[in-house]
Amino acid sequence: MKKEKWRNDAEYMCYVGDLLEKDEVQKLANFTQHHYSTRLEHSISVSYNSYKLAKKLHLNARATARAGLLHDLFYYDWRVTKFDRGTHAWVHPRIALRNAEKLTPLTPREKDIIIKHMWGATICPPKYPEGYIVTLVDKYAATDEYGRHLGQQIMSLIKKRFAQEKA
Ligand SMILES: [Fe+2]
Ligand SMILES: [Fe+2]
Repeated sequence: MKKEKWRNDAEYMCYVGDLLEKDEVQKLANFTQHHYSTRLEHSISVSYNSYKLAKKLHLNARATARAGLLHDLFYYDWRVTKFDRGTHAWVHPRIALRNAEKLTPLTPREKDIIIKHMWGATICPPKYPEGYIVTLVDKYAATDEYGRHLGQQIMSLIKKRFAQEKA
C-alpha cells in the first residue's frame, strides 16, 4: 500500500491499533496472499480502503475497519491446503471469524462482514452496507495485487524478447 498512510490516520489507528499489535494479526505477514503481497498487507489495505469508503458514506467506519482487518485471519496456504467440507471460498471466512472471536468481542455487523466477504464466490449476500464495501474492496485488492504481478511478468517477457533480438 502506498506510503502506509493508514499509520498516520489517528481515527483509523484508534479503531484497529490494538488489533494490529496482536501476534495473531502480525503472523499474517508470514503468508503470501496474492503473489507479491502478504496476507497482512492485503488485510490492512482492504481494511483501510473500506474504512475510508465507509466514512465517506457515513456508515459504520469502526466496524468496517475492524472486520476488514480480520476478514482473512487464517493461517494456511490456500493454494496448497484443501478441505473436504467445502471450498476455500466457503471455509476461510468461517475460520477467520472463529479466530477473530478469540481476539476481540465482535458486533453482529462485524461478524456478518467477515463471514459474507466472499459473496460472489458464495451465494449469501452481506446483511449490512459495510459488508458490500468490504467484499468489493477485497475483490478490487485481489485484482490490483495480481495486476501488479501480471504487469511485472509482462515487463520481464518484453525485456527477454528484446534481449534475444539484440543478441
Ligand atoms: Fe478472503
Ligand atoms: Fe481478502
